[in-house]
Amino acid sequence: MKVIVLAGGGGSRLFPISRSSYPKQFLKIHGEKSLLAHTVERFTQIISPSDIVVVTNRDYLFHVKNELKQWGGEGAHILLEPVGRNTAPAIALACRYCMDKLGCEQDEVILVTPSDHLIDPVSRFIESVQSAESTVRKGFLATFGIKPDRPDTGFGYILAGEAKENCCRVEKFVEKPDLATAKQYVAHGGYYWNSGMFAFTPSALQQELEKYSPEIYSYFCSGYDHMMETFAELPNISIDYAIAEKSRQFVVFPLHIYWNDVGSWDAIYDAMEKDDSGNIVRGDCTVIECRDSLFMGSNRLVAGIGLQDMIVVETNDAVLVAKKGESQRVKELVDQLKASK
Ligand code: GDD
Ligand code: MG
Repeated sequence: MKVIVLAGGGGSRLFPISRSSYPKQFLKIHGEKSLLAHTVERFTQIISPSDIVVVTNRDYLFHVKNELKQWGGEGAHILLEPVGRNTAPAIALACRYCMDKLGCEQDEVILVTPSDHLIDPVSRFIESVQSAESTVRKGFLATFGIKPDRPDTGFGYILAGEAKENCCRVEKFVEKPDLATAKQYVAHGGYYWNSGMFAFTPSALQQELEKYSPEIYSYFCSGYDHMMETFAELPNISIDYAIAEKSRQFVVFPLHIYWNDVGSWDAIYDAMEKDDSGNIVRGDCTVIECRDSLFMGSNRLVAGIGLQDMIVVETNDAVLVAKKGESQRVKELVDQLKASK
């Protein structure tokens, strides 16, 4: 098995860190390891780092190398996209790399994972991945589903269809529906969130690209070196829109684990360890009589007095100060910032 780790996204839900050169995958939410390091470590339990391919870009190279070196990922391959083209081109490029440079066979299982999620317990997660391998080798493309507990519009929704051995056919895949639709899906009960992880063989990916994404397919067929040289010409599209919404070859494996996409500052506050006052204090911050707040500094000294339920995130070019519970509205803020430019 080969594992492709996607680590090139900037995102905007965690403004202002997504503006800086230090996006979510490098955040240290549990202990000293970044989300990226935890991601790689999950797989070095079952495969060697030399079977792992991390896809990122030049801006993040230093952080990626550092994390891999420090946490047992040395030897993993690092691919640098010349420009970000979203996940479909990134996955196609990495798959082609596995085939052309790592000798990956047409029927070998490739697992794709985001680099910015929390997963627990890892052992059960690994069991699920391993249990998907035989189905994937038969030519199906696997997704891994999480039972939704709220109508979150930041996820893809998967309607499980006909049951197979240990998974279900995907009846319908809808990427990021609007709120009314997401509410319907949650009330329906038969939908899963797409966890963002996929597994397939090179031959299955190739077939689905040919059918649903002929432009990416033609670059894919030209081989890794050519694909890398011409990468900027590829369409900017996620794998969810390019293939998952259209293909009839997807199956879903329900994951019965804790999974958190930590997609907002509130989610990060909830997931991180707090001190006795309920505060999370990272970087150069000094606080007096503050409670239940998150303080994150990176360049300048951050000082707080008498604050409660606050989120304060400082980066070199922007500072966010928000009331806890309101961080879902960061998207609104970013949209307003974009509109005013
Ligand atoms: N190399 C590379 N290049 N990586 C990228 C790029 C890119 O251009 N764009 C995004 N990524 C990485 C991100 O760093 C992240 O690890 C992963 O790919 C997924 O991208 P996101 O941008 O975070 O996607 P999303 O969260 O909006 O949606 C996806 O994940 C959800 C689960 O968290 C979709 O697959 C949804 O369907 C899914 O529910
Ligand atoms: Mg994401």
